[in-house]
Formats: sequence, C-alpha cells, structure tokens
Amino acid sequence: MLKKLLSRKRLNILGINSGTSADGIDLALIRFSLVGRKPKIAFVDGGVRQYPAKVKTELERYLRAEDKSAEETARLDIALGHLLGRAAAEFIGKGRHRVNLIGSHGQTVGHYPQKKACLNFRTGTTIQIGDGDVIARRTGLPVVSDFRRADIAGGGEGAPLTPFVNQMLFGDKTRSRIIINIGGIANYSYHPAGGDISQIRGGDCGPGNILSDTACRLFYNRRYDLHGRIAGRGKPLQKIMAMIEKANKGRRISAGREQFDQKLLARLIHAAGGLKADRADIVASIAAATAQTIYKSIRPQLKDKRLEAVFLTGGGRRNRFIVDCLRKLIHPVRVQSVETLGYDGDLLEAVSFALLGGCFIMGVPSTLPHISGGEAGGVAGKLSLPPM
Ligand SMILES: Nc1ncnc2c1ncn2[C@@H]1O[C@H](COP(=O)(O)OP(=O)(O)O)[C@@H](O)[C@H]1O
Ligand SMILES: [Mg+2]
Repeated sequence: MLKKLLSRKRLNILGINSGTSADGIDLALIRFSLVGRKPKIAFVDGGVRQYPAKVKTELERYLRAEDKSAEETARLDIALGHLLGRAAAEFIGKGRHRVNLIGSHGQTVGHYPQKKACLNFRTGTTIQIGDGDVIARRTGLPVVSDFRRADIAGGGEGAPLTPFVNQMLFGDKTRSRIIINIGGIANYSYHPAGGDISQIRGGDCGPGNILSDTACRLFYNRRYDLHGRIAGRGKPLQKIMAMIEKANKGRRISAGREQFDQKLLARLIHAAGGLKADRADIVASIAAATAQTIYKSIRPQLKDKRLEAVFLTGGGRRNRFIVDCLRKLIHPVRVQSVETLGYDGDLLEAVSFALLGGCFIMGVPSTLPHISGGEAGGVAGKLSLPPM
C-alpha cells in the first residue's frame, strides 16, 4: 500500500479539521502533486458538518474542564476518531472521487507552548485528539495526523502550521499578501512579494471568536454572534478591551483556548459592572478587541508598498462588526475575503491539512523554524495504516 502511494504522481487527499471553536468538522478534497519539491494543489470538493448540539455541548464541557483525566482524554481521542472517520467515510461515499489519503488535524484539546522543566528536560507541548488509526479503519485509507509534534520535537511551539501552507497557496512574485484566519483564535501570515520561505511571518494574534461565542452562549443562549449583529448594537468599552489585550500578552507566538476561557469572561463581566451591564457592550468590546489585536499583529507589514490586501478566512470573516473595525484600523489597506483568491474561507484549514498530508508522504519539510521557534527540517505528521 505504501509503495503504491509513494509511486503516484498525483494524490487525491481529503483534509479534515475540527477547529478551536469545536463548531463542526471541515472536509476538503484536493488534488496534490509536486513540481520539483514544491507542492501544487487544486481544490476538488468540500463541506462543513456542524456538530449536533449534543456533541458540541459534550466537547465543550470537556474542553472547559480544568481537571481532565488521562482516561477521559484517551477515550475522547478514540470517540472523536470515530466521529471524524464516519464523517470522512460518508463524504467519500457520496462523492464521485477516488481518495488516496487523508490528512487529519483533529481537535486541539490543550496547547501549552511555554517551555517548562519536566523529567530534567525543558519542553512545551500540544495535544490534538481524533485518533488516526480509528479514521484509517473507518475509511480503509492511510491517514496522516498529529501534525504538530514534529515541530515540538524540534523545540518549536507546534504552531502555527498554516503560514507554510498559505505561502504555497498564496505566495506571489509581485504582490505581498496578508492572510488572517478568524477562527476560535485569530492568526495571521504575511507573504512578501517574491519572498522566499524565510521571509514569511506569522503567528496567533489573540482571541478570534472564542470569547464572543462563550459570551453569546451565556447571555443569549446562541452559538455565536450572527453577522456581528449583537456587537453592532453595543458600544466597545475601553476598559474591557484593555483587559482582553492584557490577557493576550505574555506569550511568544501561539495562543491556546485556555488563555481566553470562561474565567476571563467572568472578569470582563465583573469589570463591566456585573451582569446588569449592557451585554451587547461586552460583546462589542470583545469584537473590537479582536480587531485591535489583529491590527497590532500585522501593523509592521501594513507598510509594505506591494501589499495587495489583507485577506480574511475563517468563520469570523462573517462577523461584520469585527470586519468593519478592522477595515477602519488598517485603512487605506483593503480588507477582502480569501474567496477573492479562489478558496472557500470555511475550508481553508481542511485544505491545509490535506496539503500537509501530501507533504508528509512526499517527505517535504513543512515546519517553519523561524516562525515556530523549532529546529529546521521537521516533516509534520504521523502515519496510520488501515487494516490489510
Ligand atoms: N454568520 C456568522 N456570523 C458571525 N460569526 C460567524 C458566522 N459563521 C461563523 N461564525 C463564527 O465562526 C466560528 C467558527 O469559525 P471557524 O473558522 O470554524 O473556527 P475554528 O477553526 O476555530 O473552528 C463560529 O464559532 C462563529 O463564532
Ligand atoms: Mg470550525
């Protein structure tokens, strides 16, 4: 099976992701090939499957819990593998396309990039669940998963992974581009015109939708602030924004969900004058702070004369309040959707993990040491084979 896989000039790869927001499973099928040592892809098909309310609630309860047991984590790892594997098998069954390989990121359940002493070693760590072996068995396909560990092994933070992918997709000879993903956490990557890999910049900006989602659930029992309408009814409060910015400090490159959890929200509510404060003001402050932290992350790059635009991807690109705030902050640089570059902003991460799966099989290093802080040469991923 491996020999056959390696001998193919082109691979059809299904990428799977369950993002920080734990809102659903993103699936994207791409055609992958190498031109020289550079990956080239074409998007074929894709879709998003929202988690049923019960699954989302259960996942979130686990994600929020402070005393996760090893048993609970290990069990959820397998169960989520079944969920991802089933979604993939259904997607493949319905489509007309042959699939050769799966690249699955899984669900991040902990991200601790800060190096600490452990057994006399100093290391950070990160953990993604949704076991690749289970997905392989469910789909009958080889699966590449666990993309973040190769970088951790090299002393890096295991994140971000997407600047490499974005360079492959959006790097341009004459135009510089900035890609902003507003997912649960917001992150950016900068691709200077004609730049080589070493000139790319990237990292997490701060909270994306995660705080806003938590607030919307608590205040209004809604999954999220649809189109940013709630924020639009409120007025950002400087004090709240400053608190979010403070919570965002003290990390180097990557952020975790842990940083913007319910405890922070409780503090924000307290500062706003308790639950009697205008709730829309709190939601507006969170959204404005998201735009502000994005702006601060990309400010140096906005001076680039060859910058074409800032392109938005991820669910937060639909939050008009965030987008309007950002537009004002970065003016005269334009804000556009990543759709103008030919990719669906709901599927870009799934596309990314498909591409990284292809790079793994072809032995193409995909970690970016100068961004993640690790050593060079990391080939991101681990392989699971289906039963023979
Ligand atoms: N129509 C919309 N209006 C406002 N926000 C939206 C909309 N659709 C999605 N979102 C936001 O996007 C989030 C999901 O974004 P996504 O890119 O999937 O993030 P992640 O990668 O963390 O899963 C939702 O939780 C919600 O906050
Ligand atoms: Mg998502």
